[in-house]
Amino acid sequence: MPNLAVELNRLHLANPILVASGTFGYAREMAAFVPFSKLGGIVPKTITAEPRRGNPPPRTVETASGLLNSIGLDNDGLETFLAKHLEYLVGLGTKVIANIAGHDREEFLQMSGRLGGIEGLSGIELNISCPNVSGGVDFGVDPARTEAIVRGVREVCGLPIVAKLTPNVTDIVAIAQAAQSGGADAVTLTNTFQGMAIDWKHRKPILGNVIGGLSGPAIKPIVLRMVYQVARRVPGLPIIAVGGIGSLNDVMEFLVAGASAVQIGTANFYNPTLAGKLVDELDAALASEGLASVREIVGTLKTP
Ligand code: SIN
Repeated sequence: MPNLAVELNRLHLANPILVASGTFGYAREMAAFVPFSKLGGIVPKTITAEPRRGNPPPRTVETASGLLNSIGLDNDGLETFLAKHLEYLVGLGTKVIANIAGHDREEFLQMSGRLGGIEGLSGIELNISCPNVSGGVDFGVDPARTEAIVRGVREVCGLPIVAKLTPNVTDIVAIAQAAQSGGADAVTLTNTFQGMAIDWKHRKPILGNVIGGLSGPAIKPIVLRMVYQVARRVPGLPIIAVGGIGSLNDVMEFLVAGASAVQIGTANFYNPTLAGKLVDELDAALASEGLASVREIVGTLKTP
């Protein structure tokens, strides 16, 4: 049996298959579909310090090979997360990585300080990349702000830190380097791509917030390119890839490109049993390649 365990600096996972924030609720919703303890980890919906109502509807629209969303971080806030969801999540037999978003650096630090003292959490994913709220991507498009947030969180919180980056930048390598300099254990590549959909007959945007974030198979080749670039240019910074994964072949492509782990996102909506099945399929694929561990395939791309 190949060894599926992966180590992303201080974040250790039993296998590299996680589920992405915003596509898995707080896990209860998915109990009928996924044997949670099989997963490498769960990243629940982004939490903010205070409850947020999110953006006006419509909030989602299907596009060719993708999904546009403008949810706007609708959530009940940190205290309700701790009171209502945490105990359930940490009892599921897999790693739970809390995803948080702050209005500013101070709020990121306050939230991480509070979460750092919580028993059972395995890490924090910093959402410095939400395209659907005012200021959401501002942190993640600026290397200095990215580094400052990660560094501050590292000072106040002992949990492993994952920075979730936005693809809406010219140079993803510069942002990944900044996250590493700040002390991130890993980066998640990537959040959604800014996009829009139009109802031309009514001359109106379809999303209530006009602009949203595109995910799903349409973005996979672009995220693959970013994973490849960061893996080559930022050694020592493990990558969790997320972007249009819908099959084992997609997982293998991301691992070969240099990702140490992956998150299943949009596919949870149309194929909710996929994440659990991928763990078995990965095991079988590595065995058929004669590999003793998943680590042996990470970053093995041969380039001219
Ligand atoms: C949202 O709630 O708008 C989606 C989350 C994100 O893109 O970070």
